[in-house]
Amino acid sequence: MLDFTGQVAIVTGAGNGLGRRYALDLAARGARVVANDIGVGVDGVANDDSPARRVVEEIRAAGGEAVAAEASVASLAGGEAVVAQAVAAFGRLDVLVNNAGIARTNHFTDVRYADVEASLSVHLLGAFHLLLPAWRHFVAQGGGAVVNTTSAVGVFGQQRSSVYAAGKMGVVGLTRVLALEGTAHGVRVNAIAPVAQSRMAADVYGRLNDKLDPAFVSAVVLALAHPSATVTGEVISAGGGRVSRLLLAATEGHFDPSLDDESAAAVLSEVAADERVAAVPSCAMDEIDLIRANYPDLADFRMAPR
Ligand SMILES: NC(=O)c1ccc[n+]([C@@H]2O[C@H](COP(=O)([O-])OP(=O)(O)OC[C@H]3O[C@@H](n4cnc5c(N)ncnc54)[C@H](O)[C@@H]3O)[C@@H](O)[C@H]2O)c1
Repeated sequence: MLDFTGQVAIVTGAGNGLGRRYALDLAARGARVVANDIGVGVDGVANDDSPARRVVEEIRAAGGEAVAAEASVASLAGGEAVVAQAVAAFGRLDVLVNNAGIARTNHFTDVRYADVEASLSVHLLGAFHLLLPAWRHFVAQGGGAVVNTTSAVGVFGQQRSSVYAAGKMGVVGLTRVLALEGTAHGVRVNAIAPVAQSRMAADVYGRLNDKLDPAFVSAVVLALAHPSATVTGEVISAGGGRVSRLLLAATEGHFDPSLDDESAAAVLSEVAADERVAAVPSCAMDEIDLIRANYPDLADFRMAPR
């Protein structure tokens, strides 16, 4: 059984949906939980709710330990306050689940800049707002685990989701780099791409919705967050009992040492349809090394990971 006794976990957006499930499950397995939420609707507009306090009451009623943190992840001051509250209440921090999210869907012609700012400040900047202060603790402590939240909509695309997708894909880049930097400090960083019933997804999954208990996603988040896990830098899709790795891969492509405008135009469709995986790079230089591999005079040279 996964035991989180002695561990302290922050879950942002813990008042509803997936975050609530993560907070309840982490606490049930012994973690002391900081349940963060400001109580907003799916559109990010305040709705006078106090969901973080309700979740904390649920955790305490079940014999667990938790505190409510009601600062917004959308500001650095809010993120710093949540991290400071974890350390003040429980003396340490081991797990950060960046889960808070909002959704404002619109065709790009109807996107307002206010929506761009609101969405990115929760999803992408929100992750930074928690990670900047949390990272210092993890490094000083010599370890920690981060689960960021991305989405298939960000990785693969979906109409009316430009702003949401940009934030969620930004989270993937952040996850990959922090995983690389975190290894030296014992800090693991992964991203979950959840598929679950929630108020945010109320109209999305049709008849599949009944299969999408948030508990399926929570099981994977706890596995990623547990100190026994070794996985880092991955984007894991989870929902309805299915778990899979979303591959960030480079294809075989086309090599021509005398490529020019005409030949590039001639091969473009073929390159764009290529599904032959040449490599699953661990970092950018692994992908760039695929160019080097075509030049026989560079056979004794490698692009070094950085
Ligand atoms: N449900 C899905 O299928 C699905 C799919 C892909 C990604 N996601 C992502 O998973 C996460 C959880 O989504 P959910 O479906 O549980 O949605 P939800 O709307 O049920 O819960 C989101 C929670 O985040 C909170 N929140 C929003 N802005 C906040 C802020 N500034 N500070 C603190 N809390 C804030 C909300 O009050 C809410 O309680 C989101 O990041 C979402 O984008 C969900």
